[in-house]
Amino acid sequence: MPLETGTKARSVGIDAGGTLIKIAYERTDGTVGFHKFAAAAMEEAAAWVAARIDAATRLALTGGRAARLRGLLGRDANHLVEFEATCNGVRWLLRRQGAERHSFLLTNVGTGTSIHCVDGASHYRVGGTGVGGGTLLGLAAMTTGVTAFDDVVRLASQGDRGDIDLLVTHIYEGATPPIPGELTASNFGRWLQTGGSDRKEDVLASVVGLVGETVATVSVHAAGQCGASSVVYIGSSFIRNDLLRKVVAGYTELRGSQAVMVPDGEYSGAVGALLSIVDKL
Ligand SMILES: Nc1ncnc2c1ncn2[C@@H]1O[C@H](COP(=O)(O)OP(=O)(O)OP(=O)(O)O)[C@@H](O)[C@H]1O
Ligand SMILES: [Mg+2]
Repeated sequence: MPLETGTKARSVGIDAGGTLIKIAYERTDGTVGFHKFAAAAMEEAAAWVAARIDAATRLALTGGRAARLRGLLGRDANHLVEFEATCNGVRWLLRRQGAERHSFLLTNVGTGTSIHCVDGASHYRVGGTGVGGGTLLGLAAMTTGVTAFDDVVRLASQGDRGDIDLLVTHIYEGATPPIPGELTASNFGRWLQTGGSDRKEDVLASVVGLVGETVATVSVHAAGQCGASSVVYIGSSFIRNDLLRKVVAGYTELRGSQAVMVPDGEYSGAVGALLSIVDKL
């Protein structure tokens, strides 16, 4: 249950990202709640927060749009470097799930995708890719005209990539391939051979496939570089998006790494911000 208007939070951590503003707050009884807004609705987010804080409420912000949001709130707040907050927050969320681990690769599929090596308390950004949730929405809109994230996800789950993506087995045609035949050899690479598909569902399934396989492939390489055996995936791109989870986890495991999906993982940055101002959570 989100905090009612008039009920004050003890502490609030906010991650103001490129697409979504994520809020993690501590109620006066010590429990934690989450809430989110579109980044485009920043005034609405600021009003929601303003109605739930008073002079005693501690506040911390992170993310690319933190400074703008703080300007709207017009009061002092702790500011955190986004990666620091995200790594701290994901450790807390993993612990809450009983899935704590010492070292892992962290892949945050936000608007873009950011990848970090985490080893105990230390972490560094190992790289990333511009292919992320923004790509999913942009390509979906461009190819099918579908713009709402929930619609993209729902339609994609009913799609068939068979006439769109070229698999290794299509290239080897009956011969034994040197790598698993069900691997994608070329995303969208079958379109010209088959005429593609005029079903939005199929195109969207292939868009999710392209994003998921790119993210997983880059992550597995990065995990090798860090010596990590598991990849922890977070970011709002996975919200109610079983197909993306399945593609990403499947590809990651096929390539020999363990894939870990964190419930509420999209709130990692906000939780990290919250952790910076509370004694214990
Ligand atoms: N309600 C929604 N509206 C828009 N996009 C959504 C929604 N729910 C999930 N998404 C997906 O989540 C992605 C944004 O993820 P996330 O919130 O982790 O990024 P961000 O923190 O805003 O961006 P960044 O960290 O790159 O600045 C979108 O690109 C989209 O694919
Ligand atoms: Mg983000």
